[in-house]
Amino acid sequence: MASYRYRYVMLLFLLFLAIPATVGKRSDAKILLQTRTRLSDPAGRLRDWTASTSPCNWTGVACDPRSGAVASVDLSFFDLAGGFPSGFCRIPTLRHLSLSWNDLGGGLPAAEFALCSGLEVLNLTYNFFVGGLPEFSGEFPRLRLLDLSGNNFSGSIPPSFGRFPALRLLSLYGNLISGRIPTFLANLTELTEFKLGYNPFRPGALPPDIGNLTKLEVLWLSLANLAGEIPDSIGNLANLRTLDVSNNGLAGRIPVSIGRLRSVEKIELWRNQLSGELPESLGNLTSLLEFDASQNNLTGKLPEGLAGLHLTSLALNDNRMEGEIPAVLAQNPSLVELKLFNNRYSGELPPELGRYSNLQHFDVSGNQLAGKLPPDLCSRGMLETLVAFGNRLSGELPESYGDCRTLDYVRIQNNELSGKVPDLFWSLPKIYHLELRGNKLEGSLPRNISCAKNLTQIIISGNKFSGQIPQEICALMELRTINAGNNQFSGDLPLCIADLTKLEVLDLQQNNLSGEIPAGGWTELADINLSMNRFSGEIPRSLGDLPVLTYLDLSGNQLSGEIPPELTNLKLNHLNLSGNDLSGKIPDGFDTSFFPPSLAGNPNLCSSSGLKPFRKCPPSKQKALRRAAVAVLLTAAVVFPATAVLLATVCYRFIRTGKKNPGRLWKLTSFARVGFDESEIFECLTEENLIGSGGSGRVYKVSLKSGQTVAVKRLWTGPDGPNSDQEFRAEVETLGRVRHANIVKLLFCCSAEECRVLVFEYMENGNLAETLHGNKRDQPLDWERRAKIALGAARGLAYLHHDCVPAVIHRDVKPSNILLDAEFEAHVGDFGLARALGRETEGHCVMSNVAGSCGYIAPEYAYTLKINEKSDVYSFGVVLLELVTGKRALDPSFEEQKDIVQWVIDAMSPKRAIEVSDMDYEFLIDPRLRPFTSSDYKEMVRVLNVALSCTSAFPMNRPSMRRVVELLGDRRDMNSVVQV
Ligand SMILES: *[C@@H]1O[C@H](CO)[C@@H](O)[C@H](O)[C@H]1NC(C)=O
Ligand SMILES: *[C@@H]1O[C@H](CO)[C@@H](O)[C@H](O)[C@H]1NC(C)=O
Ligand SMILES: *[C@@H]1O[C@H](CO)[C@@H](O)[C@H](O)[C@H]1NC(C)=O
Repeated sequence: MASYRYRYVMLLFLLFLAIPATVGKRSDAKILLQTRTRLSDPAGRLRDWTASTSPCNWTGVACDPRSGAVASVDLSFFDLAGGFPSGFCRIPTLRHLSLSWNDLGGGLPAAEFALCSGLEVLNLTYNFFVGGLPEFSGEFPRLRLLDLSGNNFSGSIPPSFGRFPALRLLSLYGNLISGRIPTFLANLTELTEFKLGYNPFRPGALPPDIGNLTKLEVLWLSLANLAGEIPDSIGNLANLRTLDVSNNGLAGRIPVSIGRLRSVEKIELWRNQLSGELPESLGNLTSLLEFDASQNNLTGKLPEGLAGLHLTSLALNDNRMEGEIPAVLAQNPSLVELKLFNNRYSGELPPELGRYSNLQHFDVSGNQLAGKLPPDLCSRGMLETLVAFGNRLSGELPESYGDCRTLDYVRIQNNELSGKVPDLFWSLPKIYHLELRGNKLEGSLPRNISCAKNLTQIIISGNKFSGQIPQEICALMELRTINAGNNQFSGDLPLCIADLTKLEVLDLQQNNLSGEIPAGGWTELADINLSMNRFSGEIPRSLGDLPVLTYLDLSGNQLSGEIPPELTNLKLNHLNLSGNDLSGKIPDGFDTSFFPPSLAGNPNLCSSSGLKPFRKCPPSKQKALRRAAVAVLLTAAVVFPATAVLLATVCYRFIRTGKKNPGRLWKLTSFARVGFDESEIFECLTEENLIGSGGSGRVYKVSLKSGQTVAVKRLWTGPDGPNSDQEFRAEVETLGRVRHANIVKLLFCCSAEECRVLVFEYMENGNLAETLHGNKRDQPLDWERRAKIALGAARGLAYLHHDCVPAVIHRDVKPSNILLDAEFEAHVGDFGLARALGRETEGHCVMSNVAGSCGYIAPEYAYTLKINEKSDVYSFGVVLLELVTGKRALDPSFEEQKDIVQWVIDAMSPKRAIEVSDMDYEFLIDPRLRPFTSSDYKEMVRVLNVALSCTSAFPMNRPSMRRVVELLGDRRDMNSVVQV
């Protein structure tokens, strides 16, 4: 009976539910379709949203299986644009709204959010939302997960963020949030994940109340400008699994209470200013797997307790720790990665290291370790990196290392290792970097070295290796560097070495090698040093054809014959042919006062110009010959465009303008075919030709007799420009090897003690700063030109980042460094701060001081001094904003403390979307561009969107320059306006 009544009641209840459910479904469909009209859907992902089917069947919509009501809208990764579609929140049953990874923009006004108070999950990551974080007015009793990371939200965290009773996950990382980390967040006692990293917060302490969040499992506050000490209360987070406060300014000791984090698996404290000793209590953290406290000021010993945990990864590099490495570390069955480099550890390495765990990465370089290398490092057959350079390790290289077929990176230079290197060690199949220099190793290179197919760098100089260099080395087609100087190698150098087409450095100085000098099809070879050997025969003429050779040292051999005049084709920074048996006439290009030291010790050379100390050549028809030679060269240059890019290194005694000090040496390097000489240029460096004056020097416009006009930049050394020597070298080194239509071309440079001069192509339309912000009203930049400049500069930067090896980071991208030629094509210039990314820095380098220009510096760079190419992307984004808005990066019209990025973001925040269709953003556009067509407006908005993604606070969120070219280029390709 009871059960019957129960069923009856249930039936009535279900009927009652079913009626509003179908009604609800119909109106849900209507709301969804209406809201969709606010979105732009270029990829057609919402194609199946049609009134004829049920919303539950639509892409991205999910319904409650029981009630059939719409419960979830997940449109992540759909390439949607428009503003925040708050209309979805009108569906009363909606619990889950995910719109991540779209191109949604604009601000999030509180009023729109009020509708969403029924949500459990709100995920808006990786869009282009700007303005302040939304105020969540009213109650959001169900909200469990709030993810707003990877946008451009700014301002401080509103107090309503402290009032979510059910919030378990709060993620705001990668925005532009400023202000301090508010203490009221400690009210969110249900939180399990708290991610606020990668925001430019004002320096402030980690709120001590954080200890109240006892359910917290993930605390991620990397790069959040934390200062002060880690609060003791951190120890209350008994459920914490991940603690990441890396990349901040935390100081003081690591609190002992950290030992109470019983559940913690991962602790990241790296790059702070923590000091003192590591607390013994770390030894209590039996769940801990990864511990990284590198790059702090820690002192004292590595605690036994910590060493005895079953960590997979232990990183304590770059501290000031000392003492012995505890033997118990070797007993750890889990250890995969051990990074202890750059400390003051001493004593011996635990001999059993590697025996009990699958060790893959081992780096103890830069300590004071002595004794032997542990023989079992690779006994599990997993070791990939073996780095132990800069210690006092001695004894032999263990025989077992020869079986380590996983090993790919070895740097054990500058130790006291001795004895024979195991034969098999030379033939490891994966090894690409092998650096053994500065030890006392001996033996010869075995023939099976040909099996080391991946070898790119073999650096074994300064040992006692001997015997012949085997022919088999020529099988190593990936080789870029052979550095085997200062050994006892003997016999003929295999001529097939010339087949190593990727070779960049060949340094075999100070051995006993004999035979002829090889030469061949090297296209990348930049350095040859074969000095102090017993090479004989003639210098091969084909050395003069090597396109990038800059260093040639063949001194101290037994070379004979004439100096091939072809060598004067090279743009050498260093030439030494002294101490040989060369004879005949010194080629004209070398017959100048700069060269005698490079040619000395060849008693049979003669000089046509009477250069001391050589004897004078018998007179001849030199001039005619010289003209013929020039004609041949020019023809060659025209016929082979590759050689056109080049060319002579010549040095003259500078007499005509250097009257003050006629003895001064000028070093001249020419990078392109030029129809002038240096004297013509110096005569023209006068006040009337001055066209600009900047931090590092002055720029002159010089019209040459040939009709060519060039720009001459004169840098001063001494008190006026303390860095200019470095900048000069940076600029010459970078520009000397960069060729691209959108990079300014360096034609010529010369330097002497007090003065350095760079000669560039002249750019008729000056630089973008003058043209955009200056008083030149005669040629205003219309939108067509601005778009072309944006694309050209993007192409130049993309070339530097993606096509140069190693990549070049410009570091000072700004309008005054974007030069405009007669056609308003952009040329990126001024490489005074450029850096090549070193191969070993793995994509970033840490700079020693802040460089770059205010208003253009990426936020992470200003406080981490860490740059990668994404810092250029940020600066380029600022340039794009200037192109669209016509404002300067730090325009006087902005309020204090505001730059253009902040200004645009704030200006847009009260509005909704950056929608292509409405004209809401007209007020942002440079008034000088008026009137504009709606298609131009569309593009301006598109460029604004690209600019905002370039200026994202989160480097990972910024597109690569290659992607920027695509984003900017779309339209150009459509309208086929491009000239490449
Ligand atoms: C949803 O799709 C399924 C299969 O694709 C179909 O059988 C069903 O009738 C559809 N339902 C509605 C209400 O359109
Ligand atoms: C938000 O959505 C993105 C994309 O689907 C996902 O990667 C991310 O984990 C989500 N956030 C949370 C907190 O679940
Ligand atoms: C946080 O909680 C405290 C104590 O319950 C309360 O006084 C305070 O108003 C709360 N703060 C916010 C911002 O809700």
